[in-house]
Amino acid sequence: MKIHNVKLLAVAAEPHQYPEEMRPEVAFVGRSNVGKSSLINTLINRKALARVSQNPGKTRTINFYEIESKIYFVDLPGYGYAKAPKDEIARWGPMIEKYLYNREQLKVIVQLIDIRHPPSKLDLQMVQWLRHYDVRIIFALTKMDKINRSQIPKHTKIIREALGAGSDDILIPFSSETKQGKEELLEVIEKIVFGEGEHHND
Ligand code: GTP
Ligand code: MG
Repeated sequence: MKIHNVKLLAVAAEPHQYPEEMRPEVAFVGRSNVGKSSLINTLINRKALARVSQNPGKTRTINFYEIESKIYFVDLPGYGYAKAPKDEIARWGPMIEKYLYNREQLKVIVQLIDIRHPPSKLDLQMVQWLRHYDVRIIFALTKMDKINRSQIPKHTKIIREALGAGSDDILIPFSSETKQGKEELLEVIEKIVFGEGEHHND
């Protein structure tokens, strides 16, 4: 999938603000600062359409990006950001949950985990919750440029085991700095969303 046309279609806090069209959706989840907005910018070839910050808690709404008029990428606020004002923390949980809980057109979730560290308790809770609701998950292991190349298999294995990932679970080391993992992630997303057998001209 070559991505040229992208627009920020909707910024939502409540379900009535979600787009109404039944386009397939891919949502990106993970703790604050793990690199969700950066990863989306990388996939869509834009430097800063999704707002990025070195301070956690940057994305505070559910942002729908329309890709090539056929699919939506959904940037969610991160979890686990303890310094946010309490009323915001209280709002984010339900905001994310409401979205994930009953979104029929949600085809796959990309769960981001920092490749440098084993998944946190909150990461594991999120994965458990998603598995419970039978949502298809792809794991993107972010910030791979921050560890030595030779360490990548070891870190991937530790994360795979901590997640209790099976042989058909997909883990993709990724970097928004170097763009490593970008093509593989796009291919996997495309396969899941549009099916194996479909052919595209692009
Ligand atoms: P919230 O919106 O707060 O949930 O955070 P987020 O998950 O969207 O993270 P964001 O994309 O804003 O990135 C957080 C910080 O990590 C920024 O300073 C990014 O530049 C940095 N970052 C993200 N991805 C990478 C990466 O692959 N490599 C490196 N070195 N830095 C990264
Ligand atoms: Mg963000």
